Amino acid sequence: MNAHDSEKVIGTLLAEGYQQVETPDEAHLVLYNTCSIRDKAEQKVFNRLQQFKRDAGKGKVFGVLGCVAQQEGEKIFERAPHVSLVAGSASYTKLPEMLVQLEAGNRHVTGLSLDTDETFDTPFTRRDNPHRAYITIIEGCDKSCAYCVVPFTRGPERSRTSASVMAEAQRLAEQGYTEIQLLGQNVNSYRDPSPAGWDFAILLGRVAEVPGIRRVRYTTSHPRDFVRAIVETMDANPVLCDHVHLPVQSGASRVLAAMDRLYTREEYLKRIEWLKSARRNYSITTDIIVGFPGETEKDFEQTLDLLDQVQYDSLFSFKYSPRPHTAALAMPDPVGDDEKQRRLVAVQERQRAIQIRRNADLIGTVQEVLVEGRNQALGQWIGRTSSNRTLNFTDPRGEGLLGKYLPVRVTRSGPNSLVGESVTVV
Ligand code: 5AD
Ligand code: SF4
Repeated sequence: MNAHDSEKVIGTLLAEGYQQVETPDEAHLVLYNTCSIRDKAEQKVFNRLQQFKRDAGKGKVFGVLGCVAQQEGEKIFERAPHVSLVAGSASYTKLPEMLVQLEAGNRHVTGLSLDTDETFDTPFTRRDNPHRAYITIIEGCDKSCAYCVVPFTRGPERSRTSASVMAEAQRLAEQGYTEIQLLGQNVNSYRDPSPAGWDFAILLGRVAEVPGIRRVRYTTSHPRDFVRAIVETMDANPVLCDHVHLPVQSGASRVLAAMDRLYTREEYLKRIEWLKSARRNYSITTDIIVGFPGETEKDFEQTLDLLDQVQYDSLFSFKYSPRPHTAALAMPDPVGDDEKQRRLVAVQERQRAIQIRRNADLIGTVQEVLVEGRNQALGQWIGRTSSNRTLNFTDPRGEGLLGKYLPVRVTRSGPNSLVGESVTVV
């Protein structure tokens, strides 16, 4: 989401006549896009701003964008007086106006209002990847997970109209992109604000029908809003990739209730069951938080047990990190850092063993990959499967494969990737 915000900000600046340079040294205007989902994000930002000032200070204009900007607001001007612009993502629609104010020499320009119905829709997005393009379908979040700062930094949910999403998808296909990734904090609660009234499952199905688009992914889902119609739509169209990221956060219903996640372990497992009994084989991945306040050893063991039960293909795991404004800040029984670390390692070890087994099961199969890169040193091409695995492979051709879709036979596997050779199609 943040990477795509940067793409949109860069596109807006280019459309206003700015040029992009390679390093902060060369820049007259330095915009620092920030994330505050975990850890000491604020501290990192201030350290980096200090460093920018030292290394590249003279005559430059500095701005802070994103969630730390939203969270810290005008305090940033006090702690870092060389900063002239502080703007959160809900204000990026006003970016051209804010740039005019900066150009006029205004020293303190802010965009901090969360009170907007608008989404940051820009035709000027400057995309980093030549084959895969992100499309934001919904911004903000209306849930209130007790650990999460996002509702405070990105504001309430706003969905784009289906017409605007479809137009962007068609434009991308015409420009030669073949993979689209639909983005939102909670894509499942997408609701078309126009009279067409599409929900997420309908939108997903329609984007997958755009001629020229070969793969569609989406992230991220909230289990509560992950309805069966989504699985049915995926089953019906193989352009929709064989992958669902369904963050669970904890395997214990008690902890899920404290987190205000709005589902129990059993309700989550019901969604996993839909996926496992579907017509196609889906790769399932998740996010886990360990050491939420009050998480007991028994609760934690339920998370490990859930990993065994679901058999995820991959996961992201995090130590609970207290965030400003959130409900969890006031919760008793914090888990100590050593214990959080122990639980994190335990999750990662348990999952590693599962991935080794699951990836080994793919040896001998043929997978279609999108060729995304080349590792010259190893003489390998880097591909990605529909299930979102990295599959490095050899091919007699030393060039010209980037962006192509090829069948590859898996010959070896590790915990995090596969190795193979391309299959000659006769
Ligand atoms: N502490 C730890 N992990 C968090 N996440 C979100 N907020 C926190 C927090 N305060 C994790 C969740 C979420 C992912 C994007 O980041 O697992 O799904
Ligand atoms: Fe945060 Fe929960 Fe919203 Fe996800 S659904 S962004 S975890 S509040």
